[in-house]
Amino acid sequence: MLLFVYLIFCSGLIVSQCRLTTEDGCNLPAKGNSKFPSNFSFGVATAAYQIEGGWNADGKGLSLWDDFTHNYPHMIDDKTTGDVAADSYHRFDQDLAALKELKVTHYRFSISWSRIFPNGDISSRNQYGIDYYNNVIDKLEANDIQPIVTMVHFDLPYEIQKIGGFANPLFINQFVTYAIELFNNYGDRVKTWITFNEPLLYCKSGYGEANYPPQIHGAGLIDYICVDNTLKAHAAAYRVYKSKFFNTQGGKIGISLDSQFSISNDTALTHRAMQYNLGFLAHPLFSKSGGYPEVMVEEIRRNSLKEGRITSRLPDLDGKWKHIIKGSADFLAINYYTSRYISRAEKPIGENPSFERDYDLDESIDPKWKRGLSRWLYCVPEGLESILKFIRDEYDNVEVIVTENGWSDKGDLEDIERIQYLKSHLQAVLNAINDGCNVRGYMYWSLIDNFEWQRGYTVKFGLYSVNMTSPTKERTARNSVGYYRKVIETHLLS
Ligand code: BGC
Repeated sequence: MLLFVYLIFCSGLIVSQCRLTTEDGCNLPAKGNSKFPSNFSFGVATAAYQIEGGWNADGKGLSLWDDFTHNYPHMIDDKTTGDVAADSYHRFDQDLAALKELKVTHYRFSISWSRIFPNGDISSRNQYGIDYYNNVIDKLEANDIQPIVTMVHFDLPYEIQKIGGFANPLFINQFVTYAIELFNNYGDRVKTWITFNEPLLYCKSGYGEANYPPQIHGAGLIDYICVDNTLKAHAAAYRVYKSKFFNTQGGKIGISLDSQFSISNDTALTHRAMQYNLGFLAHPLFSKSGGYPEVMVEEIRRNSLKEGRITSRLPDLDGKWKHIIKGSADFLAINYYTSRYISRAEKPIGENPSFERDYDLDESIDPKWKRGLSRWLYCVPEGLESILKFIRDEYDNVEVIVTENGWSDKGDLEDIERIQYLKSHLQAVLNAINDGCNVRGYMYWSLIDNFEWQRGYTVKFGLYSVNMTSPTKERTARNSVGYYRKVIETHLLS
């Protein structure tokens, strides 16, 4: 009888009846062992442009985001910039104090390429920029905190962007030269590298829909080239590391992919949607066969021919690159914030090409899901558990680190919702581990309040509040700090 009721309710007609969340919309029941493994990594994450400030300090060159915020202020909700932000460039010691108070084992931060090579090229090498990160890494080491270093978190050097950025195949060698500089300077102490942060997001928004820098209108075409060059640059850097640095440095390299779980009663539909989202970059790297997901290859080719093109808009990963990319990551880093229900859209042929047109699915939310201050952010912890299981099954249980997960609000110090979000998502990770998923770490986004891209300073993700109007930018712990520290100390969720 129960099964009968479930089938009727979940047939797609009365969808809300088969949704999974509990009443308060941000909870997840525990399954199995209540303790995290003793070697589990707990940390926090930040990114250079969002916290550092010092936009032209000590020889730093212009980045893409410097140009965007300076020249297109109307594109930022409060017309602010990252020129000063939390001023971590001058105040890293305040961040260090917060990291120590939290007792994290790991800190994920990113390096600003335009501090190292102000015009993007090795000829402009800037020792002051190199020293800044040497100091950060030394201080982390002195305090027993492992660095997880992202090489590019959205903020490309402006000069690299001027010649096409990710859309230019030259980018591959430019990136490898930069990566070698980082391995040479920091590889003795940095053992976990992330090449790129959220390629699908920066490609779709920056090279497709044109609402992020570099504002290129190339939906369904240039955004795909951006993904292609990202994968090639990542793989080329990985291969150099393995052949020239690994023996002496012994580190590992991954890539941070944005992910959401595509929920539906139709498992085939969910599987197809996951190939378009996570699989677009994960399949070429982690699947047994390599290359783009077969479903994308077939469908985008078919759509392209119908549009009158002579080849597919999705680049062809030929044998050579397919081989170089396949297996070129030691772990999969995922950034998980939220999920969506999906259903077939069947958009008419003839519409302008785009990822959305190829994806051809409508997305919706459950009204019961609790929403953060960011419009797109709903608390769906079961989505994280499902993604981790998807990765386990699809990519041979590759090692996973959750490199971002966080909640936005107006910034009160009593942040009950952040604690609920943190707890339910850590529960999702623990449930997945108990179910055999190879998850090794979790980094909360973010350590401190920061410049939230087009939202400026209007939403807060920090465990620590930052007094943005004060010249000394004091950091103050929110209640979530005490909660997270206790989890880190005990390895238990309370
Ligand atoms: C990005 C972060 C950003 C966060 C919250 C992620 O997409 O990597 O830089 O602040 O989401 O929007």
